[in-house]
Amino acid sequence: MPTIKINDVEMNVNPGALVLDVCRKAGIDIPHYCYHPALTPVATCRMCLVEIKGQPKLATSCTTTVPPAPKDNPEAVVMEVFTNTPAVADARAGVMEFLLMNHPLDCPICDQAGECKLQDYSYSYGSGDSRMAEVKRRYRYEDLGAKIVIDKNRCIHCTRCVRFTREISGGGELTVAQRGSRLEVTTFTGKSMDQNPFAGNVVDLCPVGALTSRDFRFRKRVWFLKSTPSISRHSALGSPIWIDHEGNTAYRFRPRPLEDRNDTHFISDEERYAYAHYNRPDRPAQPLLRGAGATLDAIREALQAAGPAAVIGQGTFGCDTAQRLGELAAAADLRYGSGDKVIPVVLPLLQKSADGILNRRGFSERGFRFGALEELLAKVERGEVKAVVLLHDAAFTSAKESELLGRILKAAAFSLALEVEASDLGRAATAWLPITSYVEESDFIVNHDGELRRYQKALQPPKGVRTVPAWVKELAAVPAAV
Ligand code: SF4
Ligand code: FES
Repeated sequence: MPTIKINDVEMNVNPGALVLDVCRKAGIDIPHYCYHPALTPVATCRMCLVEIKGQPKLATSCTTTVPPAPKDNPEAVVMEVFTNTPAVADARAGVMEFLLMNHPLDCPICDQAGECKLQDYSYSYGSGDSRMAEVKRRYRYEDLGAKIVIDKNRCIHCTRCVRFTREISGGGELTVAQRGSRLEVTTFTGKSMDQNPFAGNVVDLCPVGALTSRDFRFRKRVWFLKSTPSISRHSALGSPIWIDHEGNTAYRFRPRPLEDRNDTHFISDEERYAYAHYNRPDRPAQPLLRGAGATLDAIREALQAAGPAAVIGQGTFGCDTAQRLGELAAAADLRYGSGDKVIPVVLPLLQKSADGILNRRGFSERGFRFGALEELLAKVERGEVKAVVLLHDAAFTSAKESELLGRILKAAAFSLALEVEASDLGRAATAWLPITSYVEESDFIVNHDGELRRYQKALQPPKGVRTVPAWVKELAAVPAAV
């Protein structure tokens, strides 16, 4: 490994590594706009300039790589980089002045305020002064389809969004038109971002407030939001996300990139806008027995009196939930897995699994057998299984599987459904219990690759709603002797 010096500190790094990456990993802040770890470097913004000993001009750290060590002297220092010299500070202030020449001072009404790199770097590295006496160039807001709005006045032409549509999503809807001070990012004539199922990522990529989400625009100042680490429940990828929330309401889901995992920088729009589905503070929280409100004691008694029970766990819940639910089965082989949603793969680069069941692996590891519901139906019909406990979310089950589940519930002497909101199947069960949604609990899953991914509680559940482990603990309790 070659040795380089950054601000006189020696470190060993891989040859070919970008100087900007090396600095970031070493905790040295290098301001940057056009650089993004998942995109090809283009070195257009000039914000990441550093001084390199022996080079007459400042160099862009996002395109400068660490050279290999000489064979005859592997210990030699191959490069000396300085990120804090007066020349670097001057260059950064100059670049900021250029970038702000045409930028409006509309931070008070800009959605990016609070997470804007132009604001942050202006404060940390700008000169605080402008020599721009001319009238700034003006554009009107434009819709790039129903999901994305562009304010070209704010654009600093970093081309991250353009490169995303070319290199990652592949549609190439965005382009750079005109030249010089008239340069603008726009869509090709007749194209809209609506055709792109990953369009929302351009909003995350935009380092300023030029690209904004129609869904989130003007809804909440970001400094009021709390960010809770979670995962997307959309597929077996279990993509890491942040849940941004305030006042027990989720306002957005956005990617939570993992170190050195470029695919985790992006999520699909379906995953992004799924947050709205989990804002359900007023849903029914009353346990039901034969369609009427009931106490937990009555449901427990009915379940325990029914006879041998089997459990059907949909693999879209967490591992702790799976573990506890499995304890209600009368025998280890009476744990069945359900859920058969399939994701249409339109972008294999990011959609590495077509399985729409988030935690199929975690449930399988805990003894839940998928694809064996016909076997359970036969056992119920033969009377070997008397009671069935179903953990269910209708959004992840096809009509065919729902029909099979319905037959199992109908054939059982007693059935109990655990659901966030009552579905047709839940209403057909003998008893029903309200459970927390995944944003209202902490647990973990094992994704299709075998990676363990945790998620944390972001929202409070309605009063009376409990987690599956909490219900199971009560249901399995031995009633006190009287
Ligand atoms: S719209 Fe945003 S991401 Fe696209 S070029 Fe302009 S500043 Fe960069
Ligand atoms: S980040 Fe290096 S030039 Fe833009």
